[in-house]
Amino acid sequence: PKLEAIVHFAALKAVGESVEIPLDYYYNNLVSSINLLRAMIDYNIPNMVFSSSATVYGLPDKLPVTEDSPTKKANSPYGNTKQIIEEIIFDTINVNSNFKAISLRYFNPIGAHKTALIGELPQGVPLNLVPYVTQTAIGIRDHLRIFGNDYNTPDGTGVRDYINVVDLSRAHVDAIKRLLDNKSKSNYEIFNLGTGKGLSVMEIVKSFEKATGQKIKYKIYPRRPGDIDIVYADTSYSNRELGWKSEIPLEETLLSAWNWEKNIRKKS
Ligand code: UD1
Repeated sequence: PKLEAIVHFAALKAVGESVEIPLDYYYNNLVSSINLLRAMIDYNIPNMVFSSSATVYGLPDKLPVTEDSPTKKANSPYGNTKQIIEEIIFDTINVNSNFKAISLRYFNPIGAHKTALIGELPQGVPLNLVPYVTQTAIGIRDHLRIFGNDYNTPDGTGVRDYINVVDLSRAHVDAIKRLLDNKSKSNYEIFNLGTGKGLSVMEIVKSFEKATGQKIKYKIYPRRPGDIDIVYADTSYSNRELGWKSEIPLEETLLSAWNWEKNIRKKS
């Protein structure tokens, strides 16, 4: 059977690491994308769904962030690769009139599959909030480090838009269908994937405790360089055009992250 669409997920994605080894990030993320696009042209596979990131918006001027908000200079080589790949896809589509693509800009994906069989196992010390929380709960980390409580947010801790990873994956199916059903409004489209709701670090900690019954020890640390106060998605365009909406409640998502953590640490 003929391949009709490609979902392009593959990339290196650790922000801090990308600062340390920029050439590895540029080489891996950009060259693989170029090779994939070339192969799609050679084999006439006309549709692509691309994993992009809300990091392309940088420090937004307006909240919530809509898809037509300007992209800002990336603050890491990782973020820069996402911006450049979006541009490479756009330029490629421009000269290949039967090609279409959708970039999905992920906000903060969290959680695991509810079976606890599929999830993310970060290497080394987790950089992202929720894996650090689950590793603290299970005793791998002594306490959660909350990076800053003097942000311009209701409780002073940073605010993000946390989207369940299963909800997120569903959007890819919707995007493929949109491409195959020729529903796209233009050959290159962008959709935000978030819940539309901003939550603070403290709210995540409290919801995790409520959902799992686990107490999280935490200490306040200085701000982490590069972090911004607050960012969350305007999801109205995704809801309306893609017909996609985040559905899984936060506590269920945090419980899935906890069940995944417990499952991978189980002694066999
Ligand atoms: C990061 C990446 C982003 C990536 C996203 C999802 C940066 C600048 N951005 O976003 O490109 O798409 O992850 O993987 O790194 N926090 C703590 N303690 C911790 C960890 C995090 O307080 O141990 C706080 C942070 O300060 C922030 C929030 O929790 O306010 C979320 O942090 P994190 O999960 O790392 O995601 P982002 O930095 O938003």
